[in-house]
Amino acid sequence: MNPSALDQLVRDVTAELARDARGPRVAEMLSRYARGHNDWREFALFDKRSYARNLLHKDELFELILLCWDAGQVTPIHDHRGQRCWMGVLEGRVDEALFDVPAPGARSLALRNTRRHERGAVAFITDDIGLHRIAQVGSEPAVSLHLYSRPIPTCRVFDPDTGVVGERTLTYHSVRGVRVDG
Ligand code: SIN
Repeated sequence: MNPSALDQLVRDVTAELARDARGPRVAEMLSRYARGHNDWREFALFDKRSYARNLLHKDELFELILLCWDAGQVTPIHDHRGQRCWMGVLEGRVDEALFDVPAPGARSLALRNTRRHERGAVAFITDDIGLHRIAQVGSEPAVSLHLYSRPIPTCRVFDPDTGVVGERTLTYHSVRGVRVDG
């Protein structure tokens, strides 16, 4: 039996990251998948309380997570714990606000720019580039595919007004379509 497009994407990304940990072709792979396939739909679970993190794949090289956004749902401003993060939009629209990493002791964060991403667009960030905040915008819910290499179990979150830093444990709402209790 042929693998699904999603399973094929996992295989292609595995081969790419094993070849070159920087993943120069990952953005193109995510964009092609986003524009051409919708087998992610069976894993798209939403949560009224916050955007939902649905795990599709995880190994020592990377994790692939389907994020489902209802109207107005938003992440805190956060880092990526030294890892690489790609975000491909599958449906709807999200805004990505990019902030400078604050100097030690800084009391607020500087917003550098905001970019809107729609279906097929892929954004990339590392801590060297900055911090970001993702927010759903528009009248339709949004769905996006996030790839972290390597996986990040926690991230640092930043208060925009005080610069105060906290730590957030990154949990999953579901794993391969099965809801996680809680
Ligand atoms: C998350 O994974 O919960 C935040 C989205 C991102 O950093 O791309």
